[in-house]
Amino acid sequence: MKKKIFLFSVLLLFFMFFLFKSFYGKHYLREVASKNNFLIGASVSSSPFLKDEQYKITLKNEFNLLTIEDDMKFARIHPQRNTYNFLIPDLIVEFAEENEMKVRGHTLVWHATLPDWIKDKKYTKEELSSILKSHIQTVVSHYKGKVYTWDVVNEAYNDDGTLRDNIWLRTIGPEYIELAFQWAHEADPNALLFYNDYSNEGLNQKSDAIFEMLKSLKKRGVSIDGVGFQMHSSITYEKNYEVIKENIKRYKDIGLEVHITEMDVKIQHSNKSQKERLQQQAEMYSKTLKLCLSSSNCSSLVTWGVTDKYSWIPNFTGEEDSPLLFDEKYRAKPSYEAIYKLFQEN
Ligand code: G3I
Repeated sequence: MKKKIFLFSVLLLFFMFFLFKSFYGKHYLREVASKNNFLIGASVSSSPFLKDEQYKITLKNEFNLLTIEDDMKFARIHPQRNTYNFLIPDLIVEFAEENEMKVRGHTLVWHATLPDWIKDKKYTKEELSSILKSHIQTVVSHYKGKVYTWDVVNEAYNDDGTLRDNIWLRTIGPEYIELAFQWAHEADPNALLFYNDYSNEGLNQKSDAIFEMLKSLKKRGVSIDGVGFQMHSSITYEKNYEVIKENIKRYKDIGLEVHITEMDVKIQHSNKSQKERLQQQAEMYSKTLKLCLSSSNCSSLVTWGVTDKYSWIPNFTGEEDSPLLFDEKYRAKPSYEAIYKLFQEN
């Protein structure tokens, strides 16, 4: 009988030890990232932020940075000429402060998500310059000291390396880019200022044009701190990581940072099983993070969303997908495990 009690107690002790270990031995992603001085972020959409408690719990537990996905865009934050709408972004910024998360401001100058009062009226160069200056300085001043980095100009280039035709280029001229950085810097000299785009992580006509433009701004003393590679990706399109590394390196050589700013990995349109797709997705996240961790001028990776439940992809492609680190039930996916492991082993 005594032997049985002894055996039972030993088993119980083992069981309690493992239970304790699994509760307290587990760190969140942001903790292992922070140990690498790395910012791991997610973009935040206001509708789940306002109604889904689990969304906020996952966001604050797992990430040490957030980007506001839509609510700082021109049409949202400045819907009428004399009206700014800071309510929702303020709530999200406050949440970030309470949870010791950094905030990436997105975005000050873009061709999309513009209000009708900008799109539908014809302005002179002087009028539109003054509107843009006032927009940038009002928004940046409002978040002075609270937003650590801004995507100042977003997606200003075409794939062939020419400047995208948009209202800013047409009315103000190509100098709108430089002016935007100058105005943002005047409003918050301590904020980091980034140019952000897609399809600019590799080496191609577009990324070369962006590189040359940023190099020239930097050379002329304009306040610019880095470039954002959005990296919206798909498992059906394998990236050339060696080339991306080369691109990150050339930015290092001119003193600029690189942040991965909007990463997600689509798994639709593949003939593989779901398990294989998720594994392939995990490899892409992991290879991207690895690149960043091995480059001294890359210290942040942001996923474009918190959970598959609210990703922009199904709305955009019209097809189901699961491009992020957490599934629809907030369970960590192989992609999460892969980048977690990388942080732990680095
Ligand atoms: O919130 C409204 C809702 O009230 C309304 O009923 C519904 C009807 O259409 O629209 C909702 O807003 C939509 C919003 O996404 C939130 O879901 C907008 O119409 C829609 O235009 C908006 O799309 C955003 C898109 O940028 C355009 O601004 C996506 O969320 C956002 O993920 C996407 O993000 C961009 C980055 O800013 C720049 N890089 C590419 C990236 C993906 O396109």
